Amino acid sequence: MLRTGLARSAALVAPQRASTLAAGSRLKHTLPKLPYEYNALEPHISAQIMELHHSKHHNTYVTNLNNAEETLNNALAKNDVKGTIASQSAIKFNGGGHVNHSLFWLNLAPPKDGGGELPNGQLKAAIEKQYGDLEALKKKMNAQALAIQGSGWAWLGYDPSTSTLDIITTKDQDPLLSHVPLIGIDMWEHGFYLQHLNNKAAYLEEIWKVINWNTAEERLKQAK
Ligand SMILES: [Fe+2]
Repeated sequence: MLRTGLARSAALVAPQRASTLAAGSRLKHTLPKLPYEYNALEPHISAQIMELHHSKHHNTYVTNLNNAEETLNNALAKNDVKGTIASQSAIKFNGGGHVNHSLFWLNLAPPKDGGGELPNGQLKAAIEKQYGDLEALKKKMNAQALAIQGSGWAWLGYDPSTSTLDIITTKDQDPLLSHVPLIGIDMWEHGFYLQHLNNKAAYLEEIWKVINWNTAEERLKQAK
């Protein structure tokens, strides 16, 4: 049975949850550590943005997800159906924010560690087969990312049912459920405004220089 993109995404954040498990208590989500320093992606993404994005924005999703799950659990314990339903949107929004950002940090890497470089392998072959080359993929993904109305995410995903790559956008913090996410690009203003103001195209041009294609290649291999 195929696992959904969310199940795979959840697996990526599972270690952080497991670390706070205490006997008889509910699993708490925690903010994952970055595998690089806040300034490691400069000049492409500033240290100020990285620190705020990770320690404030992502952390808020984690806190609010834990609070929403507690609200849900209390409602379930009281057999409060209306309370159970009322908790759903906060879980979707903050849970999506936690899952999406946990994926995002790992699909970035400093150029000195290979950021921006697409290695030879299954993913490169698939990109060339479907899009011609990496530049063509970037152009197509940029166009879809720039067309997002409001805040959201642009994804390069893998569809196990068709064995193809697809470019998908999701709104707000909706996670990618239809595909296995290989690369996610955060199109929320909090990810670029301090550096590029409203110039989303400039942000996209820079972020491609720190995309961790090795992570994407590993995600593709695991998806097959
Ligand atoms: Fe974000």
